Amino acid sequence: MIEGIIVLVAALLVPIVLHVTEDALQVLRERTGSAQGARMTWGKRITWALLALVAAHFFVPKGLLEPAPPPPPPLPQAALFNADSLWSGADTSRLASLNDSLEAVIRYGRELIANTSHYLGQQGTVMRNTNGLNCQNCHLDAGTRPWGNNYGAVWSTYPKFRARSGGLESVAKRVNDCVERSLNGTALDTNGREMRSILTYMEWLGTGIARDEKPKGTGIVDMAYLDRAADPEKGAAVYLTKCSSCHGKDGQGMLKADGRTQQYPPLWGPLSYNHGAGLYRLSRFAGYVKNNMPQGATYASPQLTDEEAWDVAAFVNSQPRPGRDLSADWPDISKKPVDHPFGPYADPFTASQHKLGPFGPIAAHYKLNGTKSSQTGKP
Ligand code: HEC
Ligand code: HEC
Repeated sequence: MIEGIIVLVAALLVPIVLHVTEDALQVLRERTGSAQGARMTWGKRITWALLALVAAHFFVPKGLLEPAPPPPPPLPQAALFNADSLWSGADTSRLASLNDSLEAVIRYGRELIANTSHYLGQQGTVMRNTNGLNCQNCHLDAGTRPWGNNYGAVWSTYPKFRARSGGLESVAKRVNDCVERSLNGTALDTNGREMRSILTYMEWLGTGIARDEKPKGTGIVDMAYLDRAADPEKGAAVYLTKCSSCHGKDGQGMLKADGRTQQYPPLWGPLSYNHGAGLYRLSRFAGYVKNNMPQGATYASPQLTDEEAWDVAAFVNSQPRPGRDLSADWPDISKKPVDHPFGPYADPFTASQHKLGPFGPIAAHYKLNGTKSSQTGKP
């Protein structure tokens, strides 16, 4: 706008100068007797044309005469971190910069994580090989939520040695671990479209995370141990007041209106995770619910005290659920996590203490013997 006004003032100066010189010339001509009457001269015409142009400039829509802005550069496929420096997943709007077929594969992988039951559940449209849980029930927001058991460190840390199987595990093997245990189902074909899509999604989620790096906020938080055993009776009271409204007094959850998929997943019984699943370990369950349950709680606004989390874990994991043959797990028994509830053990503690705690003395025992690396004895 300012520019326009400057141009207008400058343009107005031109006719003034021209008129003045014109008049001066007119006077000269009259004196020399060559006057030709009051006729518009070329100078004046040009001046008026210029003025019209400047005036028109104000009415031309903005931007019409400017060159089109260059298209925005493609969004980088980078790892995202929130204000607390916790990894918070990649933004799906960034998928637009990938080629269409890759984008479609990643979107299908994400869809399988979020709505697993629709495709692989009891009435699945692709196959019927799981209990009907969604991966997302435990890996929140399709595996992207900080401290929501997310997948931030999957692509950067696998293949890796895992003491549970005693071997090198690929991402596909780890995914199938959850299919067979958390979803109490049968393994996916590692070359099938579903597994390949899930792997591609995980690879994309891991973009920008260096090999062996485990960003802050990935997985499940390691909580401090209680100095007592977790108490299923206290946990029952917590369950009744803080969990049963959604998961049901009988722990069986609630189906959606479609009658095919779950609104609230079951926490025990035939459609829940089996004895070999990660959540069956008290530290995993307590760490998961502490930052994520009741629904709406987050790491930044937890709704359970540490004691409530441990106790409700003890209550839920004391209810009946499907079993699994675990005889091949933990071939080196000294590598069992302190909260692995099935013997035999390489220590003098009882199975009950391995199930409910107190875990501190077990961890201290192994620390003395130098056989377990981390606080929870996580593999
Ligand atoms: C009932 C809860 C539950 C469900 C459902 C579930 N998982 Fe898991 N998953 C876990 C737990 C617990 C862990 C171990 C986390 C830990 O030890 O910190 C885990 C670990 C993983 C890991 C390894 C993460 C890492 O960083 O090492 C992958 C990959 C994974 N799950 C994939 C899946 C997929 C894919 C599905 C769906 C087919 C699925 N999970 C369903 C509970 C679940
Ligand atoms: C307001 C409803 C609501 C309440 C209350 C609630 N949950 Fe959940 N819970 C959910 C939903 C919904 C999911 C699945 C999350 C998703 O898919 O995004 C879930 C998932 C879970 C899971 C993992 C999936 C599974 O079936 O194993 C566990 C464990 C869990 N809740 C435990 C608890 C505990 C313990 C409490 C009480 C401290 C609780 N929840 C309270 C709604 C609730």
